Amino acid sequence: MSKDPQHQIQELREQLEYHNYRYYDLDDPEISDSCYDRLIKSLEGLEERYPQYRSAQSPTQKVGGSAVKTFSEVVHALPMLSLGNAFAEGEIENFDRRVRELTDSTATEVEYVAEPKLDGLAVSLRYENGWLVQAATRGDGRNGENVTLNMRKILRGKTRLQGENIPGVVEVRGEIFISRADFGILNKARQKADQKVFVNPRNAAAGGLRQLDPAVTASRRLQLYCYAFGQVDGMPYPETHFSALQKIRNYGLPVTDLYRLVKGVQGCLSYYQEMLELRSTLPFDIDGVVYKVSRIDWQNRLGFTAKAPRWAIAHKFPAQEEMTTVENIELQVGRTGAITPVARLKPVFVGGVTVSNATLHNRREIQSLDVRVGDSVIVRRAGDVIPEVISVEMSARPEESRPFEFPEVCPVCASPVVYEGEGIIARCSGGLVCEAQKKESIKHFASRKAMDIEGLGEKLVDWLVSNRVIADVSDLYRFSIEDVESMYRKKTTTLANFLYSLGIPLVGGKTAEALADKIGSLEGIEQASEGQLVEIADIGPAVASNIVTFFEQPRIREMVDKRRHGASIEELESTYLDKSKWATNLARALEKSKTTTLARFLYSLGIPLVGETTAETLADSLGTLEQIEQASKDRLQEIPDVGPLVANSIVTFFEQPHNCEVVKKLRDAGVSWPAPEQTAGVGDSVISGKTVVLTGKMSMPRAEAASLLQSMGAKVGSQITKSTDYVIAATDTSSKAVKAVKMGIEILDEQQFLSLINSTGSTADRDGGDLSP
Ligand code: IVH
Repeated sequence: MSKDPQHQIQELREQLEYHNYRYYDLDDPEISDSCYDRLIKSLEGLEERYPQYRSAQSPTQKVGGSAVKTFSEVVHALPMLSLGNAFAEGEIENFDRRVRELTDSTATEVEYVAEPKLDGLAVSLRYENGWLVQAATRGDGRNGENVTLNMRKILRGKTRLQGENIPGVVEVRGEIFISRADFGILNKARQKADQKVFVNPRNAAAGGLRQLDPAVTASRRLQLYCYAFGQVDGMPYPETHFSALQKIRNYGLPVTDLYRLVKGVQGCLSYYQEMLELRSTLPFDIDGVVYKVSRIDWQNRLGFTAKAPRWAIAHKFPAQEEMTTVENIELQVGRTGAITPVARLKPVFVGGVTVSNATLHNRREIQSLDVRVGDSVIVRRAGDVIPEVISVEMSARPEESRPFEFPEVCPVCASPVVYEGEGIIARCSGGLVCEAQKKESIKHFASRKAMDIEGLGEKLVDWLVSNRVIADVSDLYRFSIEDVESMYRKKTTTLANFLYSLGIPLVGGKTAEALADKIGSLEGIEQASEGQLVEIADIGPAVASNIVTFFEQPRIREMVDKRRHGASIEELESTYLDKSKWATNLARALEKSKTTTLARFLYSLGIPLVGETTAETLADSLGTLEQIEQASKDRLQEIPDVGPLVANSIVTFFEQPHNCEVVKKLRDAGVSWPAPEQTAGVGDSVISGKTVVLTGKMSMPRAEAASLLQSMGAKVGSQITKSTDYVIAATDTSSKAVKAVKMGIEILDEQQFLSLINSTGSTADRDGGDLSP
């Protein structure tokens, strides 16, 4: 520090400002309280000696004349303990076994209350004669901070318990948290004000509660959910935790309605699964669930260890953020030429799956994160969201690392790269000359929400384009599947391809390859548990469960057994895979895809900026493809949600002769959709929105019946399931008709079907009716 007192004062003030910010705003202090006190004391001493440098802005003068933290200490009447953590199912089994042993329980299934584990910070609220007298943070479990004034703000003045016969002392414990939406709003405001953003909702909640100025707490929109009693005086303690929660709720305090009474380990585990699936849709963060023995006499018998109760355990979700290293940065060229950088990562288990790729979005993202090959990074995978790199650990950066440079030419076709949107979006200018764009646009065309061509997966498209079998989507309806079938297969008898051909639900080409790579043998895959499978890059719990279930089938077991006894993959292929089935299925899928809707067709074309919703609006507003092709920019912009950019994109698309030619070829190949007048009156059709299954040979072709039904707003299913509303059966002896009877689903014969169509008919029918005398 320099000798000049003015300088010294300035420097101390800056340091203190910084530490105030870390402590009060970030809730993440860098120095100890005593160290902070020393700094304040030196500053006070200097300001006393050199009064000419005093300032009302000095940290010594702020907040009632002092910036020292002033929460008083609270000694908890009952300690606030933490919870033991478990991650694996086995740990929950052990927990349950111990509970049963220690309570000498003869019951096979203990009743637990299962609750979400909120990701915030714990508080204890003390009510005397029904009034809130004190609120405290957990602190070290024995002593906490008195945050009563702030708690009053969070409760918005509702500081009195509701109801009759309120006991003298009631302590209630719960979690303070901030919703994800409010967290987003808060961070946006901070960003605008040039303040550092909070890394997660938990930190924001902690920072918001521990504010010296209650007005700041009030502005943070914190929330409370209560989950237990602390000290209670003047009433018998409820007999079960379940009824305790009910009681807390009756006092008018917030309790989540996600808690449930469950039985035994199985009950706990299915609750866990349920919450895991709900997690991404909840308005707030949860980091797991908590199981608590419901009977309070059992809780008392079980007691506590030094740190945690023996009657409760937290079952944590897999972390959604993890650190790993960037092994490479690659560029992917999409359907419209947009070039997306992707980080290839050292595989890491995060958000329940092993992740080896993460999107880096675009050039600006790469630049603002400054991600480089070799960096240690934090990867986040929340719910089904694509894994993302959220930050770089700068301190661990290798010396020789260089910033990532975007190329001037496309990595696939070497056409020049153009930069759009202030240089953020890099785009290959090659159009359909670029093989990557060709492949991607065909994959998009075949995808589920587009033409939905089952069996035309990523790998097959890559192969078809690379081998020049097809050049664009209009060729899809023209090549000979049988010819391709034998060529494609011959080249591709590998374990990965065999696995893929087995048609395990959700197992596409990439997953099949990953399985073959990591496990190496069919026998190994058959024996892998779900736990082992999710450790393979990008395999999630749903896929893992499908694989295990698939290999439980007797026919598949028998196949694996043959392999164990030396059968080659080729032999298995000829016995277990019906080659012609592959071809027939693909041919059938292609044929089926020809009957579509205008909206789907439009979406399938892959016009830049035209997503499913825009495609639907366009189809609804303009009715025919011809109208859309010919519409001017102005006309298009009259349509709701169609802005100038979208209008421009549509007009430009149809100005290109190549695109018009593709559309024409597709229509010549038989791609069609119902004319607009057929869809009129959909809203009031009796079967609009219903799921219908057709079976048996009718006098009208099945495809025509299906398209009629679709035009009236019905969904046409191929299998009878719980959600089937009607089965239309030409003969009532078909297996589907029999199944429908068993399931109590209404069956219509052809005559009933026809009269249904006529009764709910189109506008045309009604017009006809008007003409009759
Ligand atoms: S019960 C003696 N229930 O988790 C048992 N805690 O890791 C005390 N938490 O400090 C806790 N949701 O901040 C309980 N439904 C819930 C919870 C919960 C979140 C927090 C709480 C506690 C920490 C323990």
